Order: sequence, then structure tokens, then C-alpha cells
Amino acid sequence: MLAAMDRWQTIIEPFRIHAVEPIRLTTEAQRERALEAAGWNLFSIHAQDVLIDLLTDSGTGAMSRDQWAAIQHGDESYAGSPSWYVFLEAVQHLFPFKHVIPTHQGRAAEKLLFTAIGGPGKVIPSNTHFDTTRANVEYTGAEGVDLVIPEGRQPSLIHPFKGNMDTAALDALLRERGDDVPVVMVTITNNSGGGQPVSLQNLHAIRDVCDAHGKPLFLDGCRFAENAWFIKEREPGQAHRSVVEIVQEVGSLADGMTMSAKKDGMANIGGWLAMNDDALAEQCRNLLILTEGFPTYGGLAGRDLEAIAQGLREVVDEDYLRYRTRSTAYLGDALVAAGIPCVQPFGGHAVYLDARGLLPHIPPLEYPGQALAVELYRAGGIRGCEIGTVMFGLHPDGTETPGPMDLVRLAIPRRTYTQSHIDYVIEVARDVASRASSLRGFRIATQPRQLRHFTATFEPLG
Ligand code: F0G
Repeated sequence: MLAAMDRWQTIIEPFRIHAVEPIRLTTEAQRERALEAAGWNLFSIHAQDVLIDLLTDSGTGAMSRDQWAAIQHGDESYAGSPSWYVFLEAVQHLFPFKHVIPTHQGRAAEKLLFTAIGGPGKVIPSNTHFDTTRANVEYTGAEGVDLVIPEGRQPSLIHPFKGNMDTAALDALLRERGDDVPVVMVTITNNSGGGQPVSLQNLHAIRDVCDAHGKPLFLDGCRFAENAWFIKEREPGQAHRSVVEIVQEVGSLADGMTMSAKKDGMANIGGWLAMNDDALAEQCRNLLILTEGFPTYGGLAGRDLEAIAQGLREVVDEDYLRYRTRSTAYLGDALVAAGIPCVQPFGGHAVYLDARGLLPHIPPLEYPGQALAVELYRAGGIRGCEIGTVMFGLHPDGTETPGPMDLVRLAIPRRTYTQSHIDYVIEVARDVASRASSLRGFRIATQPRQLRHFTATFEPLG
């Protein structure tokens, strides 16, 4: 099989289609009306008016025949459902933590964990906290600190593991403020940094620093299978190992994890919090009962637990992971060839377009990322997500500064779009890039004080 995949260049989906969902084809004129009605905010567009939806890879993937069959096995007993044990076994096969606490999605796991261990004066380091993780840390009054290696902050610099943590910086932080640090987090893959992986070697080094300071290490495991695939492909000495073995080793280096099963759980909803510490688990379970549900279902139905268990078996399939990462890189390579600067190397779940680089004539405070995202939608019905000054530029005191970068993320839902859909995205993006100098920026017409990217309305300039 491997040899066959290596010989032929065409990336084929390692599945065929069993049920179809129609895509509604729209015209430019229809999309222009939709944009106007939505105040040029792509979050306010009806999904029906989107042709290729690359807003997120979270919960938007297609489930397999076997997942739908597993759903029929869902047992909705309030306590001790057989579906709970199926779920528990699937999670512990990959991540043998003593306690597994099911939640309705990743941020619910974060909320439980940081409610238990956060609080004013505390500091939580990570390679890079995802937005909801940081928000849950900060909500308790604690501070989130990002310690990704310097290479991870440079969009076009090639490095195999741009998600790695700067372990010298972690050591320095723990020397200085160790008493205030309840846990060290590592996000695999590093979504906010471009879906970049963390190496096994780096995870061992982080473990050593944690041990030297007596600190627990937790994973944010959302895209653990993609991370393991990159380790297999890129890390010396790992090519001969199975993805499952690599995942198990990664899990063995940690004391616990938060997880969104909407990513590498291959499910539409779900997540978990896991750990070895009995006292912490008891505290989190008590919070779970208050906010999510009984400990054998958390925020989920029995059928969701079954879908996740089956998804965890499928996501470590190496033909799937090869296709997944290659098809994402295929999109990225074509965009770069069309003159669109991108974050490189490409992550597993998304390609990040550098709008500030493509549209140097649009200043950050006229939102080049928004301009590019809107034009991809207007021209071709493709919905991406601005990750830039709109998302990060507004501060709690009401002032505004440019975000660190102005990116547009094209996130690829799992097993959902075909190669020709991706070729269509490339054709549209190439056309937009050829007209880059004619694109204009935006001003914000209305905005809330926080998380403005979800609901702000815009007006085109010029
Ligand atoms: N951690 C990471 C690294 C994530 O990417 C996400 C979600 C979460 C935690 C939270 O999980 O959505 O199940 O509550 N990321 C989505 C995205 C929303 O589009 O990247 P959740």
C-alpha cells in the first residue's frame, strides 16, 4: 500500500462517498447581496450561501459508515452506560490516564481544569495557548504565557517543529515564578501558530524541565494524530514506528490532557479532560456534575460517546493521515506557487495565508485579512477565517493596534471535500491574487467590546 501511495502523485481520498450533502451553487451577485446583508462579516453569512466552507475543521468533518453504525449502539443510560465504557477504553488505549472526564467540547474541559487550578496570581505556560484556553485561564484571574520557540513566530521560516516550546524559557519561568505555576500546557499541534507540530524530543525535554521543578504537564491534544504523523515523517528515528506507538509515547510523557473530539476525535461534538491525579480528578468531577453532567456521560449523549470511540480508531489510520497532510500541503504549495505568501511549512489542518504580505497597500488597521477573506468569498464562495487585526487588534481599554500578523486561515474539514473542491479553491485564490493590488480595505461600522470578530459589521473603503 505504502509503495502504491509513493509511486502515484495524485492524492486520492482513502474512502468513497456513501451519503452526499448538496452544495448550493451561487453567483457573484448573490454573494455580494449576502455580504451586504451580513455587514461583510463572514460569521454572519448563512452557511447555505457558502460553497466551500473552510471556516474551521472543528466538528465539521464527515463521519464514517462505522461511526454512524456506532451511533445506533448508543446507550442512553444515565449512569454506567455501555457506551461510556466503549469511550473510556478507546481514550485509554491511546492515552492511559487514570481518570477520564467526558465533556461536551474542548473548552468545557479547559473550564473545569482552570477553575480547579487557576486563579489570581497563577501563571500557566504553554507553547501557545489556543484562544479559548487563554480565555479560560484569564477568566480565573491567572495569566497565560506563550513560550513557543522563536522560529514559531516567523511565518515563512521553514522548521520541522515550529510548535516546539522554548525549554530554556520554561526553565527560567519556573525558576523565577515556580510557586505560581500549577501546570505546564503543550498544544499539539500548535493551532494558533499555524497548526505546527511539537517533536517527541521537545516533549521529552519539556518533561525533564517539569520533573526538575516538580510540575505536572498537560497536553491540549486536539490534533494529536496529525502531530504524531508529523513526528513519524519528520523526526529522525521515528519513521518505522506506528502512529499509535507515537501517540502512546506522547501520552506517557504527560500527567493529563484536555481534548476537543471535534478535531482528531473525528466527531461533530465532544471532548474530555484526563489526568492521573486523584484529588484533582475529584475536584473536576464535582464541577462536571454542576455544569456538564454525570461523570459517565459528561456533556454528551451515549451515541456521541460511541461516535468518538470509533473516530479515535479511524484517526490513527496511516493512509488517512498521509492523505490528510498531503492534501493540505497540496493546497498550500499551489497557493505559494500563485504568489500568495503562506505560513510554512503547512500544518495538518489548515493553510494560513499571509494577507499582510499579499496586500502591502492595505494598512493593518484597514484589515488586510478581512479584505482577503471577503474577496475569496465574493469571488468564489469560499469561507475562510481572518486571524489578525480584527481578531486581536482591539484591547480591553478600547484602544486598537495591529495584530501580530494578518492571516486568513483556510481550515480543512476532515474527509469532507474532494480533490476537485481543493482545485477549485486554488483556482479562485489564484484569480484573487492576480488582482491583489485592486483589493481595498475595510472600516469597522459596529463592534462589541470583546471578541469582536464574531459580530462586528464592516464597510468597504474606496
Ligand atoms: N484547543 C485548540 C488547540 C483548539 O484548536 C480548539 C478549538 C480548542 C482547544 C477548543 O475546543 O472548540 O471543542 O471547545 N478550535 C477551533 C478552531 C474552534 O476553529 O480552531 P472546542
